[in-house]
Amino acid sequence: MREEDIAEVMEIERHSFPNPWPESAYRHEIRYGTDSLFYVLQPCQEPSPATWWDRLLRRRQRERSPVIGYVGMRFVPGEAHITTIAVHPEWRGRGLGKYILLMAIQQALRNRIRFVTLEVRVSNRIAQQLYTDLGFRVVGIQRGYYRDGEDAWVMRLGPLDEAEIERLEKTRRAVEAVSMRDK
Ligand SMILES: CC(C)(COP(=O)(O)OP(=O)(O)OC[C@H]1O[C@@H](n2cnc3c(N)ncnc32)[C@H](O)[C@@H]1OP(=O)(O)O)[C@@H](O)C(=O)NCCC(=O)NCCS
Repeated sequence: MREEDIAEVMEIERHSFPNPWPESAYRHEIRYGTDSLFYVLQPCQEPSPATWWDRLLRRRQRERSPVIGYVGMRFVPGEAHITTIAVHPEWRGRGLGKYILLMAIQQALRNRIRFVTLEVRVSNRIAQQLYTDLGFRVVGIQRGYYRDGEDAWVMRLGPLDEAEIERLEKTRRAVEAVSMRDK
């Protein structure tokens, strides 16, 4: 995620959360978040340019695809904590939420993490299903975690040993094959 993506991110944010993060929170994470990583998902409109010269030209022309999803995470020793994830309402139900989360976990593995954790609203059945499908388990409950007083489930994936990493990679490949098909 770059600062130029924030306007589109905020559009999705406002359609996705009852208490959206302010724009300044994303700006702060991008500028100063040394222990965090934020990614956006953009559909590829054409095949990747073949040569460095084509790539340079494209960058100069400032071609860019719309932002259709994003994910953020923060690192603490041994652990990546998912701080936000959303997919544009028009792009939901195609496997993209799963895909972007698996991509983020794959990147997080470079930091030698053993666990991935997150909070999810007790009422958010869709997100809970997504996390459960990927192997997250409920490990706790945070009473009144959200500003409106709703409780959160604390969910955790791991320990991420070799077999678990292999399983996630296989899942990612399967999701990629399905979600990248045109619908
Ligand atoms: C949660 C969210 C990111 C999922 O994105 P998505 O691209 O629609 O999800 P996917 O298509 O990858 O679906 C992944 C899984 O979620 C579950 N799911 C998705 N849509 C669902 C629905 N309408 N009903 C029930 N389960 C659903 C399924 O388990 C699905 O796996 P399957 O397709 O193999 O059955 C998206 O709904 C969203 O942006 N919601 C608003 C923001 C939010 O709640 N973020 C989570 C904060 S903790």
